[in-house]
Amino acid sequence: MSKKYVFPEGFWWGSATSATQIEGAAHEGGKGENIWDHWYKQEPDRFFEQIGPETTSDFYHRYKEDIQLMKEIGHNTFRMSISWSRLIPGGRGKVNQEAVDFYNHVIDELIANGIEPFLTLFHFDMPLEMQNEGGWENREVVDAYQHYAKIAFELFGDRVKKWFTFNEPIVPVEGGYLYDFHYPNVVDGKRATQVAYNTMIAHAKAVVTFRECNIRDGKIGIVLNLTPSYPRSQHPADLKASRIADLFFNRSFLDPAVLGEYPEELIQILRDHHQLPITQNGDKELLMAGKVDILGVNYYQPRRVKAKDHLPNMEGPFMPEWFFDLYEMPGRKMNPYRGWEIYEKGIYDIMINLKENYNNIESFISENGMGVQDEERFVNNGQIQDDYRIDFIREHLIWLHKAIEEGCNARGYHLWTLMDNWSWMNAYKNRYGFISVDVNTKKRTLKKSAYWIKEVSEKNGF
Ligand code: BG6
Repeated sequence: MSKKYVFPEGFWWGSATSATQIEGAAHEGGKGENIWDHWYKQEPDRFFEQIGPETTSDFYHRYKEDIQLMKEIGHNTFRMSISWSRLIPGGRGKVNQEAVDFYNHVIDELIANGIEPFLTLFHFDMPLEMQNEGGWENREVVDAYQHYAKIAFELFGDRVKKWFTFNEPIVPVEGGYLYDFHYPNVVDGKRATQVAYNTMIAHAKAVVTFRECNIRDGKIGIVLNLTPSYPRSQHPADLKASRIADLFFNRSFLDPAVLGEYPEELIQILRDHHQLPITQNGDKELLMAGKVDILGVNYYQPRRVKAKDHLPNMEGPFMPEWFFDLYEMPGRKMNPYRGWEIYEKGIYDIMINLKENYNNIESFISENGMGVQDEERFVNNGQIQDDYRIDFIREHLIWLHKAIEEGCNARGYHLWTLMDNWSWMNAYKNRYGFISVDVNTKKRTLKKSAYWIKEVSEKNGF
């Protein structure tokens, strides 16, 4: 008989979303512009099939139906984000009552249906005015974010108990300041480190504010995309490459978020290359005060690296890749649509690392998922037969279960995502949801995986 995988009582089954990716109504309800509305207007060609964020999955108008679907497929928890530019158009100043009403309705509807809302404050969607002031490079924007966070805690903290300051804060650094896939499309290592650093200052200020608000039973956390580094071999040069990749891409946020300080080796590398950010007196103490209660882990892919084959171009922009080359392991399993390796054991390695080196902090898988193109190919009897997604989730859950059996403090599993949504530059190219969305009519249809997860959630395992 095959082994049974039963998860701890009260395990969080659900999914994750973000405001800009599902709400739509980009120019409705008093919402201000964010960088995505703006960039799409400027350069529509950079978005897959030129689809922008105006309507996305229309959650703004269909949230009731969507919450019924969540309930139907066994969700007991659901992570969404608040759109800063909807709640406070322009980023600072007057609170938009229509937005308050909207988020209140969604939160109340979730709770009435037995689904606990988890709220993220920032998921890649900087209000345009704040970006025009310099975005995270400007400490005044950091203060505006802190104020926004305070307002959100005061408005919704009576009902929302799990809060996340940022989703994948490294992504706007990578996309906006290193690799040209987010606005403002800057390529500049020093500005990137400043943005990364100020994001953590904003995080810490929000954590301090949260604790001052004394939200009963409230927990504050951050959601990080952890990409475990694996060296090509045990050669010291490969090991070093892997260690440095880990410093740049994982520990740059994980250490300050959980331990309250940056790794010394990372600081030294940045110092040696004249890339250290500008800091202020009191920042060290602030970062220490910003340690989280709970950590969301987004896991999609590992990062395999090797020692560099060639010297970097020292006249080019400073890049983490000055210290390692990416390594394509022969035989690796790929998701060809997204170009990401599938390595299920990575989820276990992350959890063991958290247990051994990060005080076994309370955590959960806040995103994991598989984006597939042209899923209509798999329609049979009106339903997408996404067995590949079921296999993907099951295999990851088996490794997560093993980690829990070995004492890791993982409390739940959220898929990216509930329903197919607008994936930034990829727009509707790859579909990730339990539920398919017709891009034109917005009609929702459950995929096979939705029925599967319902059973898993009801049995608390499989
Ligand atoms: C995560 C993000 O990086 O992965 C989501 O939190 C994103 O916002 C998801 O949509 C899938 O990645 P992508 O690039 O295919 O949309």
